[in-house]
Amino acid sequence: MHAALTALGLAIPQKRIVVNLAPADLPKEGSHFDLAIALAILTALGALSVEDLAGRVVMGELALDGRITPVAGVLPAAIAAAAAGRRGLVCPEACGPEARWADGLEVVAAPDLLSLLNHLRGIQVLPEPPRGAAGPEPRYPDLRDIKGQETAKRALEVVAAGSHNLLMVGPPGAGKSMMAARLPGLLPALTPPEALEVSMIRSVAGELKGGRIDRARPFRTPHHSSSMPALIGGGTKARPGEVSLAHRGVLFLDELAEFPRVVLDALRQPIETGEAVIARANHHVAYPARFQLVAAMNPCRCGHLADPSRSCGKAPRCAQDYQSRLSGPLLDRFDLTVQVPAVSAADLALPPPAEGSAEIAGRVARARAIQAERYRRLEPSGSVSTNAEADGEVLAAVAEPDAAGRDLLRLAAERLKLSARGYHRVLRVARTLADLEGAEGVSRIHVAEALGYRVGTG
Ligand SMILES: Nc1ncnc2c1ncn2[C@@H]1O[C@H](COP(=O)(O)OP(=O)(O)O)[C@@H](O)[C@H]1O
Ligand SMILES: [Mg+2]
Repeated sequence: MHAALTALGLAIPQKRIVVNLAPADLPKEGSHFDLAIALAILTALGALSVEDLAGRVVMGELALDGRITPVAGVLPAAIAAAAAGRRGLVCPEACGPEARWADGLEVVAAPDLLSLLNHLRGIQVLPEPPRGAAGPEPRYPDLRDIKGQETAKRALEVVAAGSHNLLMVGPPGAGKSMMAARLPGLLPALTPPEALEVSMIRSVAGELKGGRIDRARPFRTPHHSSSMPALIGGGTKARPGEVSLAHRGVLFLDELAEFPRVVLDALRQPIETGEAVIARANHHVAYPARFQLVAAMNPCRCGHLADPSRSCGKAPRCAQDYQSRLSGPLLDRFDLTVQVPAVSAADLALPPPAEGSAEIAGRVARARAIQAERYRRLEPSGSVSTNAEADGEVLAAVAEPDAAGRDLLRLAAERLKLSARGYHRVLRVARTLADLEGAEGVSRIHVAEALGYRVGTG
């Protein structure tokens, strides 16, 4: 700070300077207060007047030579400043384009302290930064590339339609990763408010490049060696983790059984609440984390359980050992589990399937429109828009099966020893199956198919 101010050629008095960051009970982290503190000192020294700063929110980090370096979180700060009726925002030059997404806010984006000082005093005018670009029309790989695997493709359509979680179990090279990467292309593009939400999280994580706001669904693929802070959030500056960067999109966990147990346990809370809570020294930070979970795993360590010519000879015990790495409560949270068998040479020689992502996305969009309309009526708060989010009385009201469906569900719940959570997840999937068909009520056939997706990993 001292160095940056002396770089301006200002004589800083050799006195103690007290900086009061009130209110004291509000926790403060990070270096983005640098610039505000520097401007306050300049005002105390008489280099700026109080009016020059009045009504302006200031964010930025200072380098020793007086340059203002980029900071994270400018987009949400700008939107909050506009909502609070502030006059303007002062930020680093590189952050200007993202700040300009806030309507009705004057943005001063400065490269260094001297040009900022001159701008605020009216000696020199900094150009208004351009608003960050809106990303191009999203493009995704097509499901038409996948040969065979009809069960898994059907499951992808169902999870896309109802925003459910999916676990794929199968040998290496069966197309699990390929299919997961094609789920975002089955989902509707983000609405503008959703795109802004996603971008705000990226901004806080320092990942919003050039202030560009994208309408593509997030697709995050953290490796199983990722640390807990990288996945759930935390570390210095309480950075959002992968679960939050996947907000409104897809979190793909490949090789699920290789993730450490503590990490998998920590995932349960965001899956259930749609929020990642990060504990700090004396407070908590919560980031949105409403993602769709897709996971893939081999049936056993060597991966070839179902193929007698290639399996390791320790079957089936090796598979039980491998799968027992996943806790029951975690497996419970996958609404659909599908077996993905090895693709045969005959499958690969097939002509491309008639249906691609566009046709399936069309059905998904119709099923989602039915859900959105229904939950607008039943849950005017707007907190529910897909079957995956329906709960309690609302779920009971919309997913009550017909008499035959009820009988089947009761029987299966006993046989499969379904937990209460598992039971409700079956109901949600059955509701989605009915919506894909455009059926008014949930009937036995929907319950039967939904139960078929819960037969475990073996
Ligand atoms: N069902 C399939 N249809 C077409 N190509 C496939 C299929 N399954 C696998 N492949 C080919 O095999 C490669 C590996 O697939 P991948 O999705 O990584 O398998 P997995 O994740 O199940 O190990 C792909 O890049 C693709 O070339
Ligand atoms: Mg893979």
